[in-house]
Amino acid sequence: MPATTQPASSLARYGTEWWREGIVYQIYPRSYGDTDGDGVGDLRGIIEHLDHLGRDGLGVDAIWLSPIYPSPGFDVGYDVSDHAAVDPLLGTETDFDRLVREAHDRGLRVILDLVMNHTSDRHAWFQASRASRAGPYADFYLWQDPTGVDEDGRPLPPNNWLSFFGGSAWQYEPSRGQFYLHTFLVEQPELNWRNPAVEEAQLKMVRGWLDRGVDGFRLDVFNIFLKHPELPSNPEIQGMAPGTSAWDRQEHKYDRDQPDFPELIGRFRAIVDEVPGRMSVGELFYGGPETSATLSNRNHMVFDWELVRAPWSAAEYRDLLDRRQQIFGEDIWPTVVLSNHDQSRQASRLAASARIADTDAVARAAVAIALTLRGTPFLYYGEEIGLRDVVVPFDEIIDPPARRVEEGWVWWNRDGCRSPMPWTGDPGHGFTTGKPWIRFGDDADTRSVAAQAADPGSVMAAYRRLIAVRHDRPSLRHGSLRRLDLGGDDVLSYVREADGETTLVVANFAGEGTTVDLAPAGDGPWPPIGGSHPDPGAPDASGGLALRGLEVVILARR
Ligand code: NOJ
Repeated sequence: MPATTQPASSLARYGTEWWREGIVYQIYPRSYGDTDGDGVGDLRGIIEHLDHLGRDGLGVDAIWLSPIYPSPGFDVGYDVSDHAAVDPLLGTETDFDRLVREAHDRGLRVILDLVMNHTSDRHAWFQASRASRAGPYADFYLWQDPTGVDEDGRPLPPNNWLSFFGGSAWQYEPSRGQFYLHTFLVEQPELNWRNPAVEEAQLKMVRGWLDRGVDGFRLDVFNIFLKHPELPSNPEIQGMAPGTSAWDRQEHKYDRDQPDFPELIGRFRAIVDEVPGRMSVGELFYGGPETSATLSNRNHMVFDWELVRAPWSAAEYRDLLDRRQQIFGEDIWPTVVLSNHDQSRQASRLAASARIADTDAVARAAVAIALTLRGTPFLYYGEEIGLRDVVVPFDEIIDPPARRVEEGWVWWNRDGCRSPMPWTGDPGHGFTTGKPWIRFGDDADTRSVAAQAADPGSVMAAYRRLIAVRHDRPSLRHGSLRRLDLGGDDVLSYVREADGETTLVVANFAGEGTTVDLAPAGDGPWPPIGGSHPDPGAPDASGGLALRGLEVVILARR
């Protein structure tokens, strides 16, 4: 048993509630650093790059690792065949313990991605479960008898539930003469969380990782762990626009968000809470900020996707902030997410939404907003150098739903946001000496960590400055947020306040410059303390602040 380590106390900021004040950085392990030349990133590759993240680098507080467990890889790691071990493709158990230790030495917490809704069909539990209706694993999955047979004698599924990845959510298993449920791939059977033995096994696994020094968890699709006990068909929604997917034409009344789910999360949190200072965040699988707020509690955050969906528009952001304020109020702690491994990267997405060619300028402005909002920011590897979606030709696609070719089936290829990190402009980009598992973007020769480290105007330089400003200012870390109406339609502005400190943020969403009158924000003076640009301007004597196109300025009240 390796020694449990905690981040060195002299380095760990913000005490046991660090996750409210800190910044989390998501790593997709297969794409971060490859030390054995097989083209796939590994745990040693992450260790090699920890200095990019710690105090002398970006200055984030925690790393969240997308799944590191053994997996046949049908859903690229989200199909887990053993939740308690490390995938040999990514390294050894010793590598993992070293990663935790080395991260802690740099004041970085380690957050694991727990995939507890389903397993791989290669998992020993499922192998036993599919083999027989008897034995300890028989009811570990959601098995149901057919409701009859069709005219060709084929068994009919138990209800109308659908797989998010297309087709029915039920797969017939001849050896049991029953169907099993899979909300995702056929290779990802759904666990039966209403079986107490499943909960016990899962919580034992959670405890195992905590004992190895892990500081918290991201819970994959957590609001679908529980289904309605009777598994009734979902209501079909009538009158949806043509082209709406079959999934969206159903009201997901019985396959997610069950009323007894918060108690289950309470039991999970009780284990996590045995040692103060451990965090958890649930991935909301469909659902808006209202559901996110309902499922959050004092110690547990829940993602919401409003910022991922919003186009680059000051009007949209104004509405979004007002809604957040109304829904999360003063007591519920939200998250701030612009990108992750399932979404188009923000530089591509936001620039395209407003037809802006300079994706770097949008990337700098977007993160200046994200890092000054109320809530814990979750950054996604590569966004700090303004990485854009990579176009992957069909014959190179890895993302399973994107390989599905069917009439009426449209799926965004998630490989586009999972391309390897370009560390340098050299061949292999400091990521691999082999053939990368997903191709690099066309701009990787010039867009790399090394290139941006040398450029004060780069996206990465902006991230470093903005992260430092957030760390310096209690009002940005935990203050209230009051939206203002300064400037014209293209301006977003708000004030953050805490501990007698006031910070004003003014963002110009337009490509052209503008001047904003700061007088309605109250008495200044308002010296600039940072922003998307290395040298933000100061307000003039009459309180007029000149902003460049796509510029965000952060000002402090003195
Ligand atoms: C949510 C994960 O974010 C996604 O990548 C995965 O495909 C599904 N869960 C299924 O595990």
